[in-house]
Amino acid sequence: MKETIYHYEDLLNMLDSLLREPTHFWDSFYSDREKGIPFFVNVPDENLVSYFDRNFLNVGKVLELGCGPGRNAIYLAQKGWTVDAVDLSKESLKWAEERAIENNIHINFIHKNIFDLEIEEGTYDFVYDSGCFHHIAPHRRMSYINVVKKALKPNGYFAITCFYEGGLFGGSDISDWEVYRLRSLKGGLGYTDEKLRTVFREFREIEIRKMKVFNQPNHVFGVPDFLTGLFQKE
Ligand SMILES: C[S@@+](CC[C@H](N)C(=O)[O-])C[C@H]1O[C@@H](n2cnc3c(N)ncnc32)[C@H](O)[C@@H]1O
Repeated sequence: MKETIYHYEDLLNMLDSLLREPTHFWDSFYSDREKGIPFFVNVPDENLVSYFDRNFLNVGKVLELGCGPGRNAIYLAQKGWTVDAVDLSKESLKWAEERAIENNIHINFIHKNIFDLEIEEGTYDFVYDSGCFHHIAPHRRMSYINVVKKALKPNGYFAITCFYEGGLFGGSDISDWEVYRLRSLKGGLGYTDEKLRTVFREFREIEIRKMKVFNQPNHVFGVPDFLTGLFQKE
């Protein structure tokens, strides 16, 4: 490695190197499927289901960022969407593939870091992220927004589910600068309504609210201290 910063990308890579390497972490995270992680259930997010129930979304082409074992991608495919679902963990995609086969549905799973995606401008009607964004380091946030903006068609929708600040399952309330002093996201960054609104200020806000809680087993997933947001590209 040259360790010389000539381009913006070199700067991002240098900052990445101060933090946990994500691929190995997530592969080992998924190696034990029985460890009782709440989102290991195979049901979709309650907020995602509610967007359909309230007719915010029509069927089209969707990109899921950080799809993990695929529970939301599977729901979207069952609803008739054409689904591209990306994750950097091979282990999670292996599990997601198995679930898709069990459900007899086709999903285009992509094994990549979301920042290495080659997306044709304006391909998707909808971009969904459940639990990936809060693991994205602050210096990659602007790149994340660019991925979403590039992926969406004009008037396309973007929805997100992320940690609320100081939440039960995570959501550190450290400042962005503190991330680099500590060299850690402390398990994932927490957001508030206002923070999320500010980060995605280039989009039209449709709804920001807390996730509703659903005890399992259930047909939907909902845990306390998660924030959900639905936005539209302007
Ligand atoms: C908390 S899990 C959520 C998984 C899934 N969305 C769910 O709710 O069941 C976060 C996922 O994001 C993925 N991830 C994190 N950073 C990523 C990145 N830069 N590119 C692609 N995937 C990423 C991880 O591998 C992990 O599967």
